[in-house]
Amino acid sequence: MNILIVGSGAREHILAKTCFESPTPHRLFCCGNSMNPGIKKLVADYAVVEPSDLDQVLERALLWRIDLAVIGPEAPLEKGLADRLEQHGILTVGPKQKLARLETSKAFTRDLFKRYQIPGSPKYQYFKSLAGVQKFLEELGEGNYVVKADGLMGGKGVKVAGDHLQNIDEAFLFCEQLVQSGRTFVIEEKLVGPEFSWLHFCDGERLIPMPMVQDHKRAFVGDTGPNTGGMGSYSDANHSLPFLTPTDLEAARVINQQAIQALQQECGESYRGILYGSFIATQNGIYLIEYNTRFGDPEVLNLLSIFDGDFVQVCVDMARGSLEPESVRFKSLATVCKYAVPIGYPDAPVTNQPLSIEKVQHPDQLYFGAVNDLDGLLVATGSRAVAVVGIGASIVEAEKRAEEEICRVEGELFHREDIGRLASSLSKLG
Ligand code: AMP
Ligand code: GLY
Repeated sequence: MNILIVGSGAREHILAKTCFESPTPHRLFCCGNSMNPGIKKLVADYAVVEPSDLDQVLERALLWRIDLAVIGPEAPLEKGLADRLEQHGILTVGPKQKLARLETSKAFTRDLFKRYQIPGSPKYQYFKSLAGVQKFLEELGEGNYVVKADGLMGGKGVKVAGDHLQNIDEAFLFCEQLVQSGRTFVIEEKLVGPEFSWLHFCDGERLIPMPMVQDHKRAFVGDTGPNTGGMGSYSDANHSLPFLTPTDLEAARVINQQAIQALQQECGESYRGILYGSFIATQNGIYLIEYNTRFGDPEVLNLLSIFDGDFVQVCVDMARGSLEPESVRFKSLATVCKYAVPIGYPDAPVTNQPLSIEKVQHPDQLYFGAVNDLDGLLVATGSRAVAVVGIGASIVEAEKRAEEEICRVEGELFHREDIGRLASSLSKLG
C-alpha cells in the first residue's frame, strides 16, 4: 500500500510515524510546503509543494501510485483535495469540500445548528457589513461578545471581549477592519469555562471517539495573550478530563451525533474523516465553539502517542466506510504535549534561528513543526517549532516528563511551563 501524507508540520510528523509503525505493509510519501526533517526520515519520496495546489499534489499522487491519502491541514480540504483524490480512486482521510464547510465556514456551522435545532450553540449573528453590528454588540452587552472572522484563519481570527477587545468601540473597529479587508464575520455571545477537544473517526455512519484533550491556544502562561495554533495540550489516563462529568460527555456526544446527521441531510452525502469538536464547559452546560474536519495540532500528538492499533488499517476502513469500533484502541495513559515556539511568536517571531535537540532524551517523542534542516543545522523558521510529548500513569507524571524534555530543546524559543499543571488548566472553572 502506498500512502501519501499531505502536510509537513508536527501533526503530519506523528501521522507519518504512526503509519510507519503500522504492521500493514506500506510505503510512505509526503507532499508538504517545507521539508520536515522528521518526516523526511520516514518516507520513500517527498515533494515540497503547497498542499492547496491540488494539481501538484494530484500529479505526485498519481506518479507515486498512491492508494491511501491522509490529509493533515484544513486548507487543501477547503479547496477540494479529497474530492480530486477520490475521483481518481484514491482512498482519502479527509472530507469532501462541501462537507468540510463544517470547519471552513463558522457561519455555515452556526446556521446548520439553528436550522436543525441542535443544542450547544451560543447567540450569534452573521455580518457582511457594519449594518446592525453596533446594535448586536449592545444587545450582547459590554464584555460579553466574541468577534470571529469567517473562513480559515489558523486560530488567529477570533477576538474575545475582555481579552483582546476592551470595549464595544474596539470591537466595532475590529469589525470595520474585517469589512475593509473583504471578510465576513460572526459576532457571538462570549462563553466562559474550560475548553476541550473531542476528536472522532467517522466512517460515514459511525462516530468512534478518541480520548478528550485540552488544548491551550493562548500564547502565554495562565491562558493569556493572543490566540495561537495551540501551545500544548494534555489528556488523562481515563480518556476524560478532570473537569468533565458524565453529563457533559453525554451532552457533547449528542451534539456531535446530531451535527453529523444534519450535515448529511444538508449535503446529501455522509461524512468520512476526522470530526474534531471544540467545546466549552460553561455553568449552563456544554457549548460548541467550532468544528474542525481534520486532526488537531497539538491534540493529535497526545492521541497518537497512546494509539494502540493498526493506524493504516483504521484509515483504510474509515475511508471505505467500514470502521469497526474495536479497531480503535488507546492505552490508559496520560499525555502532556508542549511546544517550543520562537521568541515573539505569534505576533512578531524571530525567524530562521538555530535550534538544537542534542540534549533531548527521547527523540522518538519529539516532533518537528516549522523547522528546516540546513545541512545538519536545524533552524526554527518562525511558527511553532518543536513539540515533545510526555507520557505517564498520571497527568502529573506526564507533565514532569514533557517539561524536562522541552527544556532540553535549545534555541531562541519559549514554551508554556503551565500546560498540564492542573491548577492552571482548571483555572477558568471559577
Ligand atoms: P476558534 O477559532 O473558533 O476555535 O476560536 C479560538 C478561541 O477563541 C477558542 O479556543 C476560544 O478560546 C475562543 N472563543 C471562540 N469562541 C468563543 C466564545 N463564543 N466564547 C468565548 N471564547 C471563544
Ligand atoms: N489545536 C487547534 C487546531 O488544530 O485547530
